[in-house]
Amino acid sequence: MEINCLHFDSLGSTNLWSKENFTNFDTTKITLTVADKQTAGYGRYHRPWISPSGLNIYASFTFFVKREQIDLKNFTQITALSIIKTLKKFTISSQLKWPNDIQINKKKVAGILCEIVPQDSFLAVITGIGINVNMPLETCKQIQQPVTSLLIETGKELKVLDVLQTLQLHFSQDLSLFLHQGFAPFLQEFRENILHQKGDLLLVNQQKGIFQGIAEDGSLIMQLADGSLQKFFSGEIQI
Ligand code: BTN
Repeated sequence: MEINCLHFDSLGSTNLWSKENFTNFDTTKITLTVADKQTAGYGRYHRPWISPSGLNIYASFTFFVKREQIDLKNFTQITALSIIKTLKKFTISSQLKWPNDIQINKKKVAGILCEIVPQDSFLAVITGIGINVNMPLETCKQIQQPVTSLLIETGKELKVLDVLQTLQLHFSQDLSLFLHQGFAPFLQEFRENILHQKGDLLLVNQQKGIFQGIAEDGSLIMQLADGSLQKFFSGEIQI
């Protein structure tokens, strides 16, 4: 799928800007909105996303689908795989913390925030991606949770634009495949890249249980204290 790219030196948030401006986008293409820095970047649960200038990727991919065309809970998982494959191209191995955090050595290196704006006959899907590329340790330490960057993990500085171009390629390929064939072609890859091992104790959405695996629909299967199996389609793992 073709990508139109819009570049800004600075935006409050590439996601917010895309939400406010997508009515001017070409609905047959993906529009990529990218900024060198964000002054009000945000993540899931409205947490701030630290976005210093020129060091990281702050990007939002907007595309349009018919209401019934895609299952969006899988879509963020596929985006996570696009990021993992992008990092692999730079010989960096990362894992997926369910549902869609990208980690290296148990520290978060990238996040995805997918926002949907319903229109009359279609949905605008705005997929925000933040990847910490060259963020130094001092900045990472200011963030409340364990966070890292590609620079910290490899000791090497990468060109942000090189990483972005690789991401664009994977994102457009994976989106096209997903729109045509759904989640099935990604399932094995998703299971292989997940951080959690069968038997791990997890706390998902305040419920404790033992991780059993990933179901065919991408949901997480946990065995609860009473022995029952429960599927989780969204949420957050606290441990
Ligand atoms: C998360 O893990 O909570 C998601 C983080 C998403 C951050 C990106 S950076 C580009 C885009 N613009 C934003 O304001 N947020 C997303």
